[in-house]
Amino acid sequence: MVTIAWEEGGVRFLDQTRLPHEERYVVTSDYRVVGKAIRELQIRGAPAIGVAAGFAAALAVRSPEIATLDEARTALSAALAYLEQTRPTAVNLFRALDRIRAAALAQSLNGVGDLRDAVLREAQAIMEEDIQACVRLGLHGASLILPGSALLTHCNTGALATAGQGTALGVITTAHRQGKVRRVYVDETRPLLQGARLTVWELLRLGIETTLITDSTAATVLQRHMVQAVLVGADRIAANGDIANKVGTYPVAVLAARHEIPFYVVAPTSTIDLRTPTGESIPIEERDSAEVTHIGGVRVAAEGVRVFSPAFDITPNEFISAIVTENGILRPPFGPGLAGAGGKGSSDR
Ligand code: MRU
Repeated sequence: MVTIAWEEGGVRFLDQTRLPHEERYVVTSDYRVVGKAIRELQIRGAPAIGVAAGFAAALAVRSPEIATLDEARTALSAALAYLEQTRPTAVNLFRALDRIRAAALAQSLNGVGDLRDAVLREAQAIMEEDIQACVRLGLHGASLILPGSALLTHCNTGALATAGQGTALGVITTAHRQGKVRRVYVDETRPLLQGARLTVWELLRLGIETTLITDSTAATVLQRHMVQAVLVGADRIAANGDIANKVGTYPVAVLAARHEIPFYVVAPTSTIDLRTPTGESIPIEERDSAEVTHIGGVRVAAEGVRVFSPAFDITPNEFISAIVTENGILRPPFGPGLAGAGGKGSSDR
C-alpha cells in the first residue's frame, strides 16, 4: 500500500477520508489539489504531510506557462505561501517547505529545467529519508518492547501517516515481526476516528491481534494493566521534549504515568523543532465544529451549540518515558539529546 507517490507529471495519493470503505487513489498535477487534500485530511500524519508538500511544490514549478528562472521562483513562492497555510501544527510541513525553498535558491541553477529537477530531487529526498527513518524507528523502538506485550496506541501513525511503515505503528509492526506483540488496543480517536478507521484497517491487514476501544476506555485498560506500554507519534517535539500530538494523547500519558506504564513517543528527527522552546509555544490547529457535532455526516448534537475542537494537545515531557528517533532512544531529561538530534533543516514556525 503506497500512501503517496510521484508519477511522471503528477502526484498519486490515497484519499484517507474514504477509508476503510473504499481505497480510492487521486492523481493530480495541480499543487492546489494536494494542498486541499492536506487541509481536508485526505493526506494526513506529520511525515506524510511533509512529503506531500514537497511533491506539491514540485508540481507548482512544472506549469507550462513558466518560462524563466525568475518566473519559476515567483510561482514557487506563491505555492509555498499557500501550502504553509494548510495545517499549522506538524512542523514536518515547514521543514519540508524550507528545504524546497533552499533547493530552488541554489546559485548553481541554470534555467527552469534545472530548478524543476532540483525541487523534485529535494522532494524525493524528503520521501526517501522518511522511508529510511521509519525502518530505523521500528528497530530502535522494538528494542523497548517486552516479549508477549499488549500495547496501546492513539490516532494513526502507520504507513498512512508516513512514506514508510510508520512511526509508533512502525515500531509495533517491527515488534510484531519479532514475535513480541500479543495484542494492540487502539483508541478510536475522536472526533475524526483515525484510530477506528485507519489504524484498525492497517493492523488487520498486517494480521496483528487488535482491539478497538473508545477513547474514554483507555483509562480502564491502563488501570487494569491490560497493556505493557503506550506508543504514540508526534506532530511537533519542542526543544524541552514536550510534544504535540492528536488530541487525547495527553490524558493517556497522564494515566500511563499514574499506573506506571511506559509511555513512548516515536517520531523522526524531522518532527523535532528546536526553535520551539516548550509545548506552550506550539501552534495548535482548531478544527471545524461540524467535526464534533456530526459523526459520519450525521448530526448528533443539538443545533446551535458552541464547540471547542483543538486537533492536538500538548503532553509535557514529565509524562514521557522515552522519545525514539531514527538515531536512537532518548531518555529524560530530553533537552540535551534533542539538541544533538535536531535533524536536517529548521523552521521559524
Ligand atoms: O490530524 P492528523 O490525523 O494529521 O493527526 C495525526 C497525528 O496526530 C499523528 O499521531 C502524528 O501526525 C504522528 S504520525 C506519524
